Amino acid sequence: MDRTRETADWLPEIAEAGLSGDLSRLQLVLLSAVRSLRKDAPKVSARLGDLLAQYTTGANPLRWQGESSPPPPTESEEGMSLVRLVRTSGATSPVLAPATRDVVDQFISERREGSSLMKEGFTPPCSLLLTGAPGTGKTMLARWLASELGLPLVVQDLSTSISSLLGKTGFNLRRTLDYARSHPCVLLLDEFDAIAKRRDDATELGELKRIVNVLLKELEEWPLQSVLVAATNHPELLDPAINRRFDLVLNLGTPGDAERAAILANAAGRFAGELPRSVLDACSLFLAGRSGSDIVRIIQSAIRRHLSRKTSLVEAVVHEAIGASGGDSDKRALGALIRAMHKASDGELTVREIASMVGKSASTVQHHLKKKDVANG
Ligand SMILES: Nc1ncnc2c1ncn2[C@@H]1O[C@H](COP(=O)(O)OP(=O)(O)OP(=O)(O)O)[C@@H](O)[C@H]1O
Ligand SMILES: [Mg+2]
Repeated sequence: MDRTRETADWLPEIAEAGLSGDLSRLQLVLLSAVRSLRKDAPKVSARLGDLLAQYTTGANPLRWQGESSPPPPTESEEGMSLVRLVRTSGATSPVLAPATRDVVDQFISERREGSSLMKEGFTPPCSLLLTGAPGTGKTMLARWLASELGLPLVVQDLSTSISSLLGKTGFNLRRTLDYARSHPCVLLLDEFDAIAKRRDDATELGELKRIVNVLLKELEEWPLQSVLVAATNHPELLDPAINRRFDLVLNLGTPGDAERAAILANAAGRFAGELPRSVLDACSLFLAGRSGSDIVRIIQSAIRRHLSRKTSLVEAVVHEAIGASGGDSDKRALGALIRAMHKASDGELTVREIASMVGKSASTVQHHLKKKDVANG
């Protein structure tokens, strides 16, 4: 079903906003029209975008902080709020692989340069689908995006949005989307697949279909001033049509060697100075396949161990990293770790001490230390 509206279909809405003198409503309608007409009437869309950019003097229309936010939507039974407003101050970016980082930076630049893009007849991206295993930084990234764009972060509250009544979840979703459309914000539909989770598989799929349909319709006419971010661990459950409607689909995979070491260093915070880079690099080899959130948890328990047991931080981190790898360390990782510890301690750690820290025999440690030159050469 194609819901794209034709040029003439926009006229009544534009006329109403214009004649009633509601300038911000008019801007909103025009922004939606620019977007909706982009494919089928590119010239009209470009001209409207040009006019908008020309008359929205000063403030970037994608950021304008007009009237204060309207009251959040509530569900109809008990009047509970369907969304949460999440603080964005102090948000930090997740550590991302360089190619992913580049895509995210591009998204942010295009949003920031929204006015200049519109002047040239291009529309900035408004919707983003984040996929990836649990704990790979999807929620963290949405929060950071909102803070970078200077927009409030509105997060759909799953506990109030999910209803056991047939069709009600979709209705709640529509109200949440309407709210996000009514003023500039980043709307996060977190754990998007979960809003259709049901005990009975057949209804679950039926409801998911209904909800995806609601979203498909809304994405067509999503206004440029707000950003819609949906996140899911299960992209395979979503209708393939949905991927095409998002301006950008980004998979946050589990972090690679370098990213894991960077997450370890970041998460160590003020303790990072006590952890030589070579040790972090070696420890990260033990954590292959682990998510960012696993790694943060590992370093935090290492710090607690360090503080409560008065062990050195290097020893605590090595202990946790080896423990997390389940003992089946590969030889390359073990060798790198032993050499890193030896080097970092400036020869102060004895073979026996290193052996006890890594849980191996002294002869194994000796064997790996001898390979030093080969490994480095
Ligand atoms: N790439 C990363 N860089 C730095 N920290 C990370 C990264 N990924 C996860 N983390 C850490 O893990 C925590 C949880 O991550 P987050 O909630 O963003 O994951 P998620 O992908 O949304 O997971 P879920 O699918 O379970 O909702 C973050 O607050 C952060 O401390
Ligand atoms: Mg999340």
